[in-house]
Amino acid sequence: MTRKIEQGRLIVASHNQGKVVEIGDLLRDFKVEPVSAGALGLPEPDETEDSFIGNAQLKALAAARAANLPALADDSGLCVVALNNDPGIYSARWAEKPDGTRDFYFAMEQVEAALAKMTAPTREAFFVCALCLAWPDGHCETFEGRVDGTLVWPPRGDKGFGYDPVFLPAKGNLTFGEMEPEDKHAMSHRADAFAQLVAACFE
Ligand code: IMP
Repeated sequence: MTRKIEQGRLIVASHNQGKVVEIGDLLRDFKVEPVSAGALGLPEPDETEDSFIGNAQLKALAAARAANLPALADDSGLCVVALNNDPGIYSARWAEKPDGTRDFYFAMEQVEAALAKMTAPTREAFFVCALCLAWPDGHCETFEGRVDGTLVWPPRGDKGFGYDPVFLPAKGNLTFGEMEPEDKHAMSHRADAFAQLVAACFE
């Protein structure tokens, strides 16, 4: 049976402050008090699994066991159909330059260069967001959200982050980089995953 979340502290198992704030906002209307894993000094495990769900589960379980509290973790990325769904779980890694810095324009160029080597590739792509809510006894509830679209080149818009400027969702003609954040949040992979989480575990 699906386990529900009780009132009280909930660890947000991320050391990325932007993500902690975004998840905190999404949980604002519920009776939980989000606390970040970073604020508690919890260790950040390596993402060693080969799926979004696997990595979200690994991060949530590590935090739940270390803090002895329920913990929520996510893992997300861009999947390009013609590239066998790469960069996928390696979306952040594709942004790493040889000098060690992270640059998403560079990551978008890598994707475009890989497509340019193919003959008439499909430009279909989708974002995935996996969420895992884990408890210290090892119980997990997992959800996967998705949004479909196509890739544009050159990148358009500077309102988002990561791969947003090249992602044109199936609905409308603005890229995620050109959209107002609230419009993106109404249709994103993260919104989809959160809606599933809330319906199953919060209500
Ligand atoms: P992680 O979930 O922290 O492992 O990061 C996954 C990477 O996927 C991020 O660094 C972003 O580059 C990319 N990504 C995930 N969600 C989005 C999104 O909504 N827009 C743009 N890029 C995203």
